[in-house]
Amino acid sequence: MASTAGSEVLIVGSGLIGRSWAMLFASGGFKVKLYDIEQQQITNALESIRKEMKALEQAGSLKGSLSAQQQLSLISGCSNLAEAIEGAVHIQECVPENLDLKKKIFAQLDRMVDDRVVLSSSSSCLLPSKLFTGLAHVKQCIVAHPVNPPYYVPLVELVPHPETSPATMDRTHALMTKIGQSPVRVLKEVDGFVLNRLQYAIIAEAWRLVEEGIVSPGDLDLVMSDGLGMRYAFIGPLETMHLNAEGMLSYCDRYSEGMKRVLKTFGSIPEFSGAAVEKVNQAMCVKVPADPEHLAARREWRDECLMRLAKLKSQMQPQ
Ligand code: NAI
Repeated sequence: MASTAGSEVLIVGSGLIGRSWAMLFASGGFKVKLYDIEQQQITNALESIRKEMKALEQAGSLKGSLSAQQQLSLISGCSNLAEAIEGAVHIQECVPENLDLKKKIFAQLDRMVDDRVVLSSSSSCLLPSKLFTGLAHVKQCIVAHPVNPPYYVPLVELVPHPETSPATMDRTHALMTKIGQSPVRVLKEVDGFVLNRLQYAIIAEAWRLVEEGIVSPGDLDLVMSDGLGMRYAFIGPLETMHLNAEGMLSYCDRYSEGMKRVLKTFGSIPEFSGAAVEKVNQAMCVKVPADPEHLAARREWRDECLMRLAKLKSQMQPQ
């Protein structure tokens, strides 16, 4: 497969995630074509990218070494798929999370591409074996799952189909690194990938603790935002173990019995319904009323926090 240097990337689907990818690839100096079935979506995407890049530049938070204007000149819209594919070395699919729709798009792309392009899906939870099985170019297919908002949260989970070639994984890993993202290799596909499996484990125990009346919903969230989450922005759970004793072996020696004792008391999978959901919802709505204005304002604040955290993280190189 060819190298990706100075090449073109095609984004299929110019909604929320397609726009973020376009900005990230442009920040890495790639030429980006934005394709969508809705011409209006392309127009809206180009306009919102322009506004966002200008705002980021003013805030000193624009990624990459090029100016907003230079990055914007790398992005163009395209409503003809055959033309859009020409010259692309990487195609990032970002259409809605619907298996039939995604399969249709990949079958279409499969008929049109040569053996040099990587076909990558942004899917949050559809398994590569469901998306890509039977495609002639299956070796070139991979899931590259970003985290919202991808401009500030750099993780990308790379999930291969059993027949994805190692070269596709390596090339996608290098490409994501080049645009400043943090790719991780999921070695075998698994439902929920890695991020959502961890997230759901946390949600399940949070829910049980609240449902059992052990802690209030607000205090539960505080345990994460002012406790565990502070560390987790810099080191993961395994390194936390390593640092919280004289290394990992000492941690397991000291704490494994205690961990197993507590883990045995974990309850069953919550239903996320009934009185518990009412209780949690009520607490959340006191904090952030669930109308579009309040939710949007809170998301804006969250993104501002993430932007500042991303800056801090970039200054905090490991010793
Ligand atoms: P969205 O609904 O904002 O955008 C989807 C875009 O695809 C729309 O512009 C739509 O016109 C276009 N589209 C629909 N059918 C098409 C077709 N046949 N050909 C070309 N374009 C078509 O969706 P969003 O949120 O950007 O999600 C896209 C993908 O990214 C989904 O698979 C989702 O699971 C994944 N994802 C989403 C995250 C999120 O927080 N929104 C986070 C991580 C991944």
